[in-house]
Amino acid sequence: MDDYVRLTYRGREFRLPLVAGSEGETAVDISRLRQETGLITLDPGFANTGSCSSAITFVDGERGILRYRGIPVEQLAERSTFKETAFLMINGALPTQKELTRFSVLLNDHSLVHEDMKIFYQSFPRSSHPMGILSAMVNALRSFYPELQNLEEEINITVTRLLSKVRTMAAMSYKISRGHTVVYPRSDLTYCANFLNMMFDSPVKPYELDPDVVKALNVFLILHADHEQNCSTAAVRVVGSARVNLYAAISAGIAALWGPLHGGANQAVIEMLAEMSRHGNLAAMVARAKDKNDPYRLMGFGHRVYKTYDPRARIMKQMAHVLLEKLRLSDPLLDVARELEAIALKDDYFVEHHLYPNVDFYSGIVLRAIGIPTNMFTVLFAIGRLPGWIAQWKESMDDPAWKLCRPRQVYCGPRERDYVPIEER
Ligand code: CMC
Repeated sequence: MDDYVRLTYRGREFRLPLVAGSEGETAVDISRLRQETGLITLDPGFANTGSCSSAITFVDGERGILRYRGIPVEQLAERSTFKETAFLMINGALPTQKELTRFSVLLNDHSLVHEDMKIFYQSFPRSSHPMGILSAMVNALRSFYPELQNLEEEINITVTRLLSKVRTMAAMSYKISRGHTVVYPRSDLTYCANFLNMMFDSPVKPYELDPDVVKALNVFLILHADHEQNCSTAAVRVVGSARVNLYAAISAGIAALWGPLHGGANQAVIEMLAEMSRHGNLAAMVARAKDKNDPYRLMGFGHRVYKTYDPRARIMKQMAHVLLEKLRLSDPLLDVARELEAIALKDDYFVEHHLYPNVDFYSGIVLRAIGIPTNMFTVLFAIGRLPGWIAQWKESMDDPAWKLCRPRQVYCGPRERDYVPIEER
């Protein structure tokens, strides 16, 4: 195979080198394109643009494959915990027992949040969305905790602090939004059990931890742990490229994830299923989603990368079913979701557009079964995505080729014209 492609422009030929990834994906390196040809590329939404080389996550959207550091997500969901997967993601390899114990100790040591931060929480209007609060509070962490130095040990502490505190802060925002007493983290509980306890324990009704629920939360978080250069991760990398502190970069990622086309879809799916359940006319909603003159879309369907069934959605669907059975719960929205999926998968429009359920389609059912309120769904996605954001940020900081992100544009505004004084306009 050639190791370059030829570009002919205005009678001259240029050679653009090819770069091959470890799974065979090949890219054209255009880093010298403008310098050599005067041209730039135009790619709205970056659908054809690789922004970096990365050794963290492999996604094959055509074959429905997702691997973290080479390990299939199915194996991690079945056999790992979120804490172990977070370690894998950030450090590149599964931890030894000693490393895992050390990681757990650090997570416990850093799980408390500065008491003064509670005052901030109490000042947000009750109607505030928890994602807006989380993004602001993560940014505020920088004011409460010493600035990151470039020493490896200090980076590790900042990273662990963030992983641990975001979980505490998320539970805290829920408690404060309900006007309830904040529940502090406990050193005898595992990462996910601790979060559930902080969310649901109360002085008048102790929370009983159910191993099936703890396992479900672990799987949920593992499935969200990274997804290569998605919108929020790209935001973390772009903002981080200006060399802001880690908290600010993660705060930007949280803001991006909030959008309904990205992580906010899990909340939007439940709202859509509830509406369908009320109105009962699924076919009419599917028809609306297909109508080019109607902006309505089926939430939880379609993906920029997956053109087949999202492997995370398959695990999530199975887990929704198993969890409801184990907890002896029934959720009418699961029936609506299954019916909608069956209609869409047979529909020519969805087949031709390669639109399948994505990770968000069944995740809300799982979160509802755990007891998570709908407006906290995307916060749970953020807790899950945190190790991925951190790993990607770390990778970009360690990459000698990583530069300030600053795309170009094709200007299509007015040509030069003179300023007109206000009295003459
Ligand atoms: N319902 C109906 N039509 C759709 C949908 C949908 N959910 N998604 C895409 N399409 C159609 C779209 O109208 C377009 O049709 P045409 O080519 O005839 O104009 C075609 O499919 C391609 O859509 P696109 O918007 O150009 O594709 P994209 O790669 O930019 O969009 C997406 C990906 C996820 C934004 C989109 O599928 C969508 O809006 N889905 C619903 C929101 C959702 O579930 N988001 C969660 C994504 S998974 C979690 C995450 O990783 O963020």
